[in-house]
Amino acid sequence: MSFWKIFFKNTSDMNWQTNIELENTENILLVKHLENEGQYLDIYFSIDDDINLYDLEKLCDSVGWVRRPLKKVKMAIDHSFLTICLFYKSCQKKNLIGFARVTSDNSFNATIWDVVIHPKFQGKGLGKVLMDQVIKQLRYSDISTITLFADPQVVSFYRNLGFITDPDGVKGMFWYPL
Ligand SMILES: CC(C)(COP(=O)(O)OP(=O)(O)OC[C@H]1O[C@@H](n2cnc3c(N)ncnc32)[C@H](O)[C@@H]1OP(=O)(O)O)[C@@H](O)C(=O)NCCC(=O)NCCS
Repeated sequence: MSFWKIFFKNTSDMNWQTNIELENTENILLVKHLENEGQYLDIYFSIDDDINLYDLEKLCDSVGWVRRPLKKVKMAIDHSFLTICLFYKSCQKKNLIGFARVTSDNSFNATIWDVVIHPKFQGKGLGKVLMDQVIKQLRYSDISTITLFADPQVVSFYRNLGFITDPDGVKGMFWYPL
């Protein structure tokens, strides 16, 4: 699989709302009455690393990602700077429909990983609002260099959000064990 390394250009004309703090962001209503298969659902987000790993695995399965050992996924989440979940509630249960996480040096740089929206909820603007929240939280933490690795088929999704490839000729490079 090939990847593109993409950087987020920090444009000063963007109006960042910094009213949502990194702490204390559980179950914030993000989209009210989202139409989905004849139902109207309220979509919430939370910043929380207490994630049901089986729900996350199901979400990743739904977009055809290769399964990863849950123990390693838990370790990755535990060591992430930020994890954001999108979900709707039914019968007191949270139904996970979107996810993204970020690693960071907590100061200058952050890299976004595992951006996913359940296929039944794609094309409704949720990927964009999820990414907007991720960027908002990182800007709130005064992190200005935000990178990610985009599959070729989603490069334009990220471009629309302000990400750019190869600024000043910078190339993403990889080392894999043989
Ligand atoms: C990529 C993904 C997160 C987008 O989520 P989404 O909820 O469908 O996206 P949105 O509805 O918010 O779309 C926002 C904009 O991006 C565009 N867009 C959405 N998916 C796109 C894609 N794959 N390629 C190009 N543009 C895309 C939409 O047309 C929309 O454009 P508009 O604002 O001009 O109308 C989602 O399709 C997904 O989970 N894909 C599978 C997992 C994946 O590939 N993740 C990325 C790994 S790098």
